Amino acid sequence: MATNKVLAFLMASMMALSMEAKTLVAYFSATGNTAHAAQTIAKELKQKGQEVVLWEIEPAEPYTSADLDWRNDKSRSSIEMADPEARPTIKQCTDITPYETIYVGFPIWWGICPRIINSWLDNNLEQLASKTLIPFATSGSSGIEEAVEYLRKTYPSLSWQKGRLMR
Ligand SMILES: Cc1cc2nc3c(=O)[nH]c(=O)nc-3n(C[C@H](O)[C@H](O)[C@H](O)COP(=O)(O)O)c2cc1C
Repeated sequence: MATNKVLAFLMASMMALSMEAKTLVAYFSATGNTAHAAQTIAKELKQKGQEVVLWEIEPAEPYTSADLDWRNDKSRSSIEMADPEARPTIKQCTDITPYETIYVGFPIWWGICPRIINSWLDNNLEQLASKTLIPFATSGSSGIEEAVEYLRKTYPSLSWQKGRLMR
């Protein structure tokens, strides 16, 4: 009898473990700051015992420093950010099926998220509808509020949680 109880307990524990919600930390980073922030978040979550996977959203065509020149209104980033419909191509798609909570990280560009974040959200839109989304960002000085407001307005069907600006 005691053995049966122990076995039942072990099986229940194993099932609970296998059903434990996984968290994805997906991020785009052009110059490394957001990558660092993503690693910090993943480490914090792991320390709390969560199962975490880090995923870099990479552009098919990497951004050069000339592309990132915000002073030049002809640079790739300026052209993309001036066009709300711009959707830079992503190198590799993500399987978001196993994750319940998804952190979405990016550098602030012109107050909001870079358009590649829209590409990633658009690519995964249907599946994202059942997930909890937590935006995080790095910036020179801007806050994350405008970016979160933009994401809420652009993707009203998704469950956006409070954003986190990482210093
Ligand atoms: C095209 C471009 C636009 C930017 N716009 C802003 C901005 O509006 N506000 C701000 O505080 N920082 C701005 N920044 C600075 C970045 O948000 C900041 O350096 C960020 O940490 C870079 O992250 P990364 O290293 O992950 O790419 C901009 C940078 C670039 C390249």
